[in-house]
Amino acid sequence: MTNPPARTRVALVFGGVSSEHEISCLTAGGVARAMDPARFEVVGIGITADGAWVRIPTDELVGYEVVDGTLPRVAADRAQAVLLRGADGAEVATRDGDRLLDVVSIDVAFALLHGPWGEDGTVQGMFEMLGLRFVGAGVAASAIGMDKDLMKRAMAAAGLPVGPWVAITPAQWRDDRSGCLERVNALTFPVFVKPARGGSSIGIAKVDDPSTLEAAIADAQRYDPKVVVEQGFVGAREVELAVLQDLDGPPRVSLPGEIVMHTDDRFYDFDAKYLPEEQVTLQVPAELPPALLADVQDLAARTFAAMDVEGLARIDLFITPDGVPWVNELNTMPGFTRTSMFPMLWAASGLDYPGVIATLVDLALARPMGLR
Ligand SMILES: Nc1ncnc2c1ncn2[C@@H]1O[C@H](COP(=O)(O)OP(=O)(O)O)[C@@H](O)[C@H]1O
Ligand SMILES: [Mg+2]
Repeated sequence: MTNPPARTRVALVFGGVSSEHEISCLTAGGVARAMDPARFEVVGIGITADGAWVRIPTDELVGYEVVDGTLPRVAADRAQAVLLRGADGAEVATRDGDRLLDVVSIDVAFALLHGPWGEDGTVQGMFEMLGLRFVGAGVAASAIGMDKDLMKRAMAAAGLPVGPWVAITPAQWRDDRSGCLERVNALTFPVFVKPARGGSSIGIAKVDDPSTLEAAIADAQRYDPKVVVEQGFVGAREVELAVLQDLDGPPRVSLPGEIVMHTDDRFYDFDAKYLPEEQVTLQVPAELPPALLADVQDLAARTFAAMDVEGLARIDLFITPDGVPWVNELNTMPGFTRTSMFPMLWAASGLDYPGVIATLVDLALARPMGLR
């Protein structure tokens, strides 16, 4: 009899200090349930809303679900988790006072974190320092993808179609407010005011005329001192595509899905994203004429390549009424619950949820450490 191959030990890291804590926990529960126990051993590492790292046993993690309308959260009273760099790579341990218990090696980290301190290169940098392979984009691509100003600059420099925007840093707002407003007023209204490093549409406002601009900027600054203001795409369709790297070929691009809002006065805001009874349909796959379908898939592939992403990304586009696709944003760690767009796009493209997760771990295992 031959020994079964050793299981891959995967540290799922979830929760976190961002406003997307609960969504991250929900995602982690779904991912843990979808990982084949014959192939993978899950190590649950929760980050509490205060930023503490704790061990969440797998049997607790697989129970992370919506219960009576309440989303799961990382319990703060669990044993402290410690990540360290051992002689042969990264290890995780449980802290008991001044002792470390249950020290085991980890093969791959999968951070299911959204927003700052998770999707923005910070945790990716920590994994690099620990000598730990991880799922998804590296430090630089994560940081650029998180910041809507840096992201658009990089895309524009790569020749990708992005709409006009201006960035307002805290120093510019303090020292030259009228100059900032002048730059914004050079855009055509409506404009969208956004925290530069936000997500889930939190803090985003559609501003129809200059009279309410300053209030919208002040509101966005409550979430991020750096703000971007973008010219609005009027009457545009919104489509999203998923990209997954391939072990031995070019990245695969999914079929597109479309966000269909049933009201004219709304955009894809927080409620529409997470409250299912709201007036939005995710149309998967999107119905596009063949030439436009080819165009959007090509644009998604070019965006993935130009932004130097690894593993996965969701690329969100606008299609203006004249049939031209524009890039809205790239998400290096898209929503990942079973009913999120990313897994739905792969399901429509022939790859099921456990298959997507196994592919991501295999991609992480296969890639070299350090500069690549
Ligand atoms: N320039 C724009 N023109 C038209 N609609 C926009 C524009 N920017 C954002 N929106 C609307 O706001 C939503 C959220 O904006 P987005 O930049 O995707 O932020 P987030 O990172 O929070 O998802 C979009 O899905 C879209 O409905
Ligand atoms: Mg978005």
